[in-house]
Amino acid sequence: MVTARLPQDEIDVAVDALRDGELVAFPTETVYGLGADAQNPDAVRKVYEVKGRPATHPLIVHIDHPRLLERWALSVPPAAQALADRFWPGPLTLVLRRAPAVDLAITGGQDTVAVRVPSHPVAQQLLRAFGGGIAAPSANRYGHVSPTRADHVRDEFGDAVKVVLDGGDCKIGLESTIVSCVDAVPRLLRPGFITLSQLRSVVPDVVAGSDAQAPRAPGSDAKHYAPATPLSIVNSRTLEEVVAQLTADHEKVAVLAMRPPRLANRYMTWVNAGRRADVYARELYVNLRTLDKSGAKEILVEEVPPGESWDAVRDRLRRAASVENLVTVDPDIAALRADFGEDIGLP
Ligand code: TXA
Ligand code: MG
Repeated sequence: MVTARLPQDEIDVAVDALRDGELVAFPTETVYGLGADAQNPDAVRKVYEVKGRPATHPLIVHIDHPRLLERWALSVPPAAQALADRFWPGPLTLVLRRAPAVDLAITGGQDTVAVRVPSHPVAQQLLRAFGGGIAAPSANRYGHVSPTRADHVRDEFGDAVKVVLDGGDCKIGLESTIVSCVDAVPRLLRPGFITLSQLRSVVPDVVAGSDAQAPRAPGSDAKHYAPATPLSIVNSRTLEEVVAQLTADHEKVAVLAMRPPRLANRYMTWVNAGRRADVYARELYVNLRTLDKSGAKEILVEEVPPGESWDAVRDRLRRAASVENLVTVDPDIAALRADFGEDIGLP
């Protein structure tokens, strides 16, 4: 479905709901968000409740235009201004010191706030009509795969979220790049569509990854973005072999690969997501949802190539895989994993 604006009456219903302290799910160019009036602490608390998210995991404030930034941030350092000028509206979130009035429910108690100006026409319509900030995490239950279609949001929440604006498929499909501009040196906290090189072309001293002193991006280290089915990352060379082992007892296996299978196997569901990073990223969460529903005992994901264009995909896959998954498999498979060592790619 082509991204288009929605009829004004649909936007009006959503704006009324926000003003009444209700939640509204809306599309962005990255993933769907579950929004609340950022100035209504009760509404913001509802987001945590409905998502099942710990109160210490802060939300992103969405605004329609960079000029609103000063309402939310105490100050805007030159590096943040330069990044905002270059990448907003778009898939970039900036972490800044929070303005005194920003509700602590949004920031998870931290003295910083994350802000983003989305480019999706429906997000823009909603934000403009609403006139204020919308606090929104991704519109999925805590730890689940993020939604890239309105149907995913309905699957996640059913009637618990009454207003879901349908803006079609998200074009990027992975959450925004997060950069903290709180310290002297800006820091990439979450990789996304905007790469480290692109950030550095504007602000050369951006560094990657968090350190012990750096602001946390909660949710960036825990198991996250995960389907219910255990997921492992497997090297391309050994993929067919691992599938053969896992299906030896006629258990079903689901595979997300970048190529067609070299061997047919009636117990496997194989999705070939191709070798283009942008296309792979856009379809990653749809593919994980499909494979999760395939009835497989395990999802195997072919390891993605090295290189910056795959950083965001690699990051989400690592977090979708989990050490916890290891305890669910039988000893043979654990041994197989030991043989393949790093091929499994668990953190
Ligand atoms: O693309 C996106 O960013 C989507 C769309 C809806 O905008 N939103 C999204 O929200 O991914 P969420 O809540 O799923 O992820 C927000 C991330 C979390 O990892 C959170 O810890 C981090 O942003 N974050 C929020 N406020 C922060 C802060 N003050 N300091 C550090 N990290 C922060
Ligand atoms: Mg999320």
